[in-house]
Amino acid sequence: MPLIRLYAATHDGHTARIAERISARVETHGAATDIRVLQGGDEPDTAGADLLALVAAVRYGKHLPAAEAFAAKLAAIQQSTPVALASVCLTARKPNKRTAEENPYLRKLIARHQLNPVAAHAFAGKLDYPRYRFVDRQMIRLIMWITGGPTDGVSVIEYTDWSTVDSFADQLAAAVEPVAKAG
Ligand SMILES: Cc1cc2nc3c(=O)[nH]c(=O)nc-3n(C[C@H](O)[C@H](O)[C@H](O)COP(=O)(O)O)c2cc1C
Repeated sequence: MPLIRLYAATHDGHTARIAERISARVETHGAATDIRVLQGGDEPDTAGADLLALVAAVRYGKHLPAAEAFAAKLAAIQQSTPVALASVCLTARKPNKRTAEENPYLRKLIARHQLNPVAAHAFAGKLDYPRYRFVDRQMIRLIMWITGGPTDGVSVIEYTDWSTVDSFADQLAAAVEPVAKAG
């Protein structure tokens, strides 16, 4: 059975939920998964894996530092083990900011580390004003003001389109399918 290893970089937990959803959906295709939460300083573990997927949250204009460091290491292993990328951010609320070409964080991540992912997508994350510290709340209010979202400082809105997450998982499962047939 092929194995997809998912690495999640999360600050507030929503990206971990997306990784869990990808895992559950991949497993419906008869592939195995395991999820690891990046702590910083992690090395890609390719043992037994047919694909490594990085699922990473964006904060302050970049993926979390643990994800950036991990992406650099993925560049070194992608020749032998295929990689996939999923970005989680509020910019992807907009339908025209979700592909590897259109999402600035994903595009820059790929360019910076010269990655060649078999699948890459940006998912809309969660807005959770009550959870944020004062300074973060003001920062998000500013981003929301610029991008036409709620600026009230109290809203909790999950923007994630779960069916798109499922489609991404389907792509990952399809990418390891020939291995399944061979094995
Ligand atoms: C302090 C802070 C900064 C953020 N910066 C950005 C940003 O620069 N661009 C963006 O699109 N989303 C930004 N977001 C939105 C997060 O990417 C989104 O809330 C995501 O769901 C967080 O995932 P997590 O729960 O796994 O940490 C930010 C959120 C917070 C709290």
